[in-house]
Amino acid sequence: MADPASRSDRAKAARETAASLVPESPTIPKLQLAAARCTACELHLLGTQTVFGEGPEKARVMLVGEQPGDREDVEGHPFVGPAGKLLDRALEDAEIEREDVYVTNVVKHFRWEARGKRRLHRKPAMAHITACRPWLDAELAVVNPEVLVCLGATAAQAIAGRSFKVTERRGEFVGVEGIDAIVTATVHPSSILRADDVNRDAEMAAFVRDLTTVRRSLDG
Ligand code: URA
Repeated sequence: MADPASRSDRAKAARETAASLVPESPTIPKLQLAAARCTACELHLLGTQTVFGEGPEKARVMLVGEQPGDREDVEGHPFVGPAGKLLDRALEDAEIEREDVYVTNVVKHFRWEARGKRRLHRKPAMAHITACRPWLDAELAVVNPEVLVCLGATAAQAIAGRSFKVTERRGEFVGVEGIDAIVTATVHPSSILRADDVNRDAEMAAFVRDLTTVRRSLDG
């Protein structure tokens, strides 16, 4: 299976970013079209298709996850699988319309490994995040959201720096150099799916609280 296993592969992948593929005067449809042909890292060989961000071009809130999962890879849309369904419920409870937010991922292809007939999620490597970063930067430039919500550690560390700990700083609003939006981080919805029965409700409530804080910040 294609994977940047060796150091030289990783270095090569890091040099190769999507930057040269980003169109001039981008719009979201133009970016979606260009990203569909992205070969900046080897994940394009693994994923069925590029899963680009979606939502209003002038959304006030952008949600950023890690990478598309199995369902997203098949359907071609972000957060449409089990984690997406949970996200939808949490947004509803926080009184945020999903149609009003722009939803994307730091990596736009599904990284997976075969386990029998199943495709198991693998975390993206730094090289994949680096290769894909120009797409996220272009989405940020076009949408220009007021609040950027990182869902989980991969997104939070890609955006707010590698030392950022979601466990310690969830729900805080922070400034990040080079990003106009105020940045906040919360857990990834799949962590709530993985939580045991005893903790799941409390974790969902905390997630909804973080999203409610985001909604209220827009009123203030
Ligand atoms: N997990 C993510 O981080 N993003 C998706 O789009 C789906 C699952």
